[in-house]
Amino acid sequence: MDHFLYRGGRLYAEDVPLAEIAAEVGTPFYCYSVATLTRHFRLFDEALAGTDHLVCYAMKANSNLAVLKLMGDLGAGVDVVSGGEYRKARAAGIPGERIVFSGVGKTREEMHLALTGGIRQFNVESEPEMAALNEVALSLGAVAPITVRVNPDVDAQTHEKIATGKSENKFGIPIARAREVYAHAATLPGLKVVGIDVHIGSQLTSLEPFELAYQKVAELTRTLRADGHDIVRLDLGGGLGIPYHRSNLAPPLPVEYGEMVKRTLGDLGCEIEIEPGRLIAGNAGVLVARVIYMKEGEGRDFLILDAAMNDLVRPAMYGAHHDIDPLAEPAPGVERAPVDIVGPVCESGDTFAKQRMMPPLAPGDLVAFRSAGAYGAVMASEYNTRALVPEVLVSGDHFAVIRARPSFDEIINRDTIPVWL
Ligand code: LLP
Repeated sequence: MDHFLYRGGRLYAEDVPLAEIAAEVGTPFYCYSVATLTRHFRLFDEALAGTDHLVCYAMKANSNLAVLKLMGDLGAGVDVVSGGEYRKARAAGIPGERIVFSGVGKTREEMHLALTGGIRQFNVESEPEMAALNEVALSLGAVAPITVRVNPDVDAQTHEKIATGKSENKFGIPIARAREVYAHAATLPGLKVVGIDVHIGSQLTSLEPFELAYQKVAELTRTLRADGHDIVRLDLGGGLGIPYHRSNLAPPLPVEYGEMVKRTLGDLGCEIEIEPGRLIAGNAGVLVARVIYMKEGEGRDFLILDAAMNDLVRPAMYGAHHDIDPLAEPAPGVERAPVDIVGPVCESGDTFAKQRMMPPLAPGDLVAFRSAGAYGAVMASEYNTRALVPEVLVSGDHFAVIRARPSFDEIINRDTIPVWL
């Protein structure tokens, strides 16, 4: 459930009509709902009630400082994957002991940053990384708490570009080699093994692959404990999917996910961490755009918007579906016709939807892309020298711009022309 609903024929974000925000900040813009973000965080937190746990929001999904501050105030931890994300999480007030550091390519500088600034744990993904972290920790006279990310070779049954738990993916160490790698980690004085990490992919729409992976983790926990390792924490990654199509069956709910986690791992007495991103932020955000032109093509019509693939890349990159709704509610029973919905960028990939059944729209009308709060603004670029679109946060009947649209002077002045040119 989200808080973007029609009222009196107008689409609202909580108690604010989206058209009012459009009038004030211009289009396109992203808009997020505090009530929805809060609700989604709490769903996960409550799903794990009764077990020692920490919900570490995967900030890659939406890393606006205001969103991070909200998460931090709710008690969330954060999963970061770069020095930039670490800095941003700290700037938003998240304490180091609530930050986990994931990613296959952590640099020594990033390790240094997190070890000196405070960190809950590093999720180590390879032996070379383990060696580097040991060295950095020793040089600082510190001990780095680690889990090792294992690759359970489970098919997450999701888009190939966001599946991470198969043996051919670059992530983690093969689970079959885990005993050997943990034995090695135990000999490194700069590291302290605290647990196991796993993350098999994103936008999972069934619990089955999770359960398969978590069963393997349960078995590994017992084996590693028998080998003498102190496994006190299990990081289970993120990945629970969201309903992108209003018409499709909804993926499992956080409460069902939580029950499965408790059933599969509950008897181990471990602290549980999860790293949801999409489910917290996805349906808590929309991208609002304006129709520029209606264009009649050869055998098909085009709806040309002022938002483009640089603002929301998911359709171009993954063939992803986003529901697109007019801000003015269509009259019941109004006739819909198929259109290709496209942006102004100069390539055919800049297509949001093909032959989408839409109610009649005219230039100047506003539309909202649903489920755009995760992997939307964070993946935007300035391709075609289009300014990054602003982000707006709504709470109840008020809103604030939480990232302003940059001016073209700012964009132009970021580049420099060498004196010798
Ligand atoms: N933890 C780790 C280690 C991850 O790599 C990810 C996502 C998450 C947690 C959060 O997963 P979530 O709960 O959001 O599914 N740009 C793609 C999604 C990439 C996901 C990458 N990793 C998209 O737009 O669909």
